[in-house]
This record gives sequence, C-alpha cells and structure tokens, in this order.
Amino acid sequence: MAILKIARMGHPVLSAVAASITAPTAPDIKKLAADMVETMLDADGAGLAAPQVHVPLRLVVFQVPGDGQTEADFDAAAPLTVLINPEIEILAQQTETGWEGCLSLPGLRGQVARPSHIRYAGFDLEGNRIERVATGFHARVVQHECDHLDGVLYPQRMPDMRQFLFESELRHWQKQE
Ligand code: NI
Repeated sequence: MAILKIARMGHPVLSAVAASITAPTAPDIKKLAADMVETMLDADGAGLAAPQVHVPLRLVVFQVPGDGQTEADFDAAAPLTVLINPEIEILAQQTETGWEGCLSLPGLRGQVARPSHIRYAGFDLEGNRIERVATGFHARVVQHECDHLDGVLYPQRMPDMRQFLFESELRHWQKQE
C-alpha cells in the first residue's frame, strides 16, 4: 500500500473523461483501489476518484459514516466502498444544496446543488454488481466522485459563486454568528 500524490485543480487529468475498466478483478486494479483508500483516509476525505491520483480510469472509493438506525439513515450512509464503472440514475429531480470540498481543491469549500435521491450501480473488486439507493450526503458524495470521471469539478455545479470560500474563512465567520 502507498499514499498517492493527489492532482490539484488545473492538472489536465482532472478535466479529462476517464476510461472504463475492462477487468475489475485484475491485480493492478486491486492495488490501485487499496492505495486510493489509504490516500483518502490519510487525507481525511469522504471520497476519491482515480483521476485525482493521476489514473484516468472509472474507479471511485468513498465512505459516509452514519448510524444506519432508520431506513432513511441507512440510505444516507455508506460503508467503505470501491465502485468500478459506476452509473447513476436520478430518482427525484428535487435538489439539495450543501457544502462540498475536494482533495483536489485543498482549503476550499462551495455550496453545490445536487439531486438528493439517486440509485447507483457498478462493480466491486470481485466483479460483483453493487446497486444501492442513496440520499443525503451519501448521494452527494457519490455524485461528486462520479463527476470526477467525466472531468467535472464541483465549482462547475455551483449555482452561486459567492458561496465559493476558503474553509478557514468559513470556520472563522461561522464562529462569529
Ligand atoms: Ni473531489
């Protein structure tokens, strides 16, 4: 396992469309996923997409902690997941606006509007199909990570660029209220 270097906004790999993975069970994919999980945990991120570690392939890792006590909580939380060749289906056009950050835009936060109820599918490292319904922050993280596979960064999804801030300022000014 290794901690990988994370590409920052401006690197061309972050604006390219990533390629599908033909062999999800291949050893090099398993190693990439393990290194990405280690990199994500080290950087304290909720998710990471392969292009962010300079690999233009359709693979994302994420986890969304939650108590999972109710059905609503269950859909809003996700275990540590490796998702290969993901696809997203929007279940409700209603959007929610919430703060996002990205390991490729260190120190920044933005308010992003996204559909709040989705179904997503893809494959795990054993080649098994994963299919889940997601709401809340879980739905947000999956959409954010999958956007990376199409070369999209969260500022491109922001309805109001006045809500694009340094995290340190956000923390500072929130404290004043
Ligand atoms: Ni990101």
